[in-house]
Amino acid sequence: MTNKTDYSEQMRKSYNVIAKSYADKSYKDSFYEEQKAHFVSLLKEKGKVLDVGCGGGQDSLYFYSKGFSVMGIDISDEMVSYAKKKLPAGTFYAGNFVDVPLNDAFDGIWCNRVFHHIPLDQQDAFLSKIHRLLKENGVLYLSAELTDEQQDVDLWKTGVFPEHEGGDDIPIFKKLLTKDSFYSLLKKHRFEIFKTADWGKSGFTEVFARKL
Ligand SMILES: C[S@@+](CC[C@H](N)C(=O)[O-])C[C@H]1O[C@@H](n2cnc3c(N)ncnc32)[C@H](O)[C@@H]1O
Repeated sequence: MTNKTDYSEQMRKSYNVIAKSYADKSYKDSFYEEQKAHFVSLLKEKGKVLDVGCGGGQDSLYFYSKGFSVMGIDISDEMVSYAKKKLPAGTFYAGNFVDVPLNDAFDGIWCNRVFHHIPLDQQDAFLSKIHRLLKENGVLYLSAELTDEQQDVDLWKTGVFPEHEGGDDIPIFKKLLTKDSFYSLLKKHRFEIFKTADWGKSGFTEVFARKL
């Protein structure tokens, strides 16, 4: 099932199930400190940051605490309600990122642990929207779970979030790219990658990139 409406609705429902646990327990404010600190060091002071797939808003809160104005988007309306509680001064929208109408221009776009949830036929729209929303020379932080296999995997998976109550049997969409295909896609969308790192055995990678 990659029909866009079905995908959006199922992802909304699935992440709604674990939103409270996700926002409360597992993802504390201290996660990804190094990445967040590096990201803000690349942006002009008091600039605008967009947090795509913001979850419970812990990263949005960090950017706000560093003096940035923050907008967050998440497909799960429950996640968005937790993000709003966490950061009442932020602007948050619920919906599939590719569908939410936005015309702002951002100095930086932060998108952590979301891209592997984007179906192949929505990836171009996702990245071209990020490109359009960034100011000239704007900075993108993008992380994704990848696969080593040459064949890309595309599936609805259960058992993804056993650490969250109810998270064992919710279907979560995953499209895992190889590192080469991930980098090529960014290049195709006119991003210049200037820093990368892998997260050990977990199969995750992250890039810092600039809009060309
Ligand atoms: C693993 S969580 C990461 C949340 C947050 N970025 C973090 O690092 O804590 C993935 C998030 O992406 C959101 N998401 C998945 N697909 C999305 C889409 N197409 N548009 C907007 N948000 C999406 C989910 O609802 C979920 O909150």
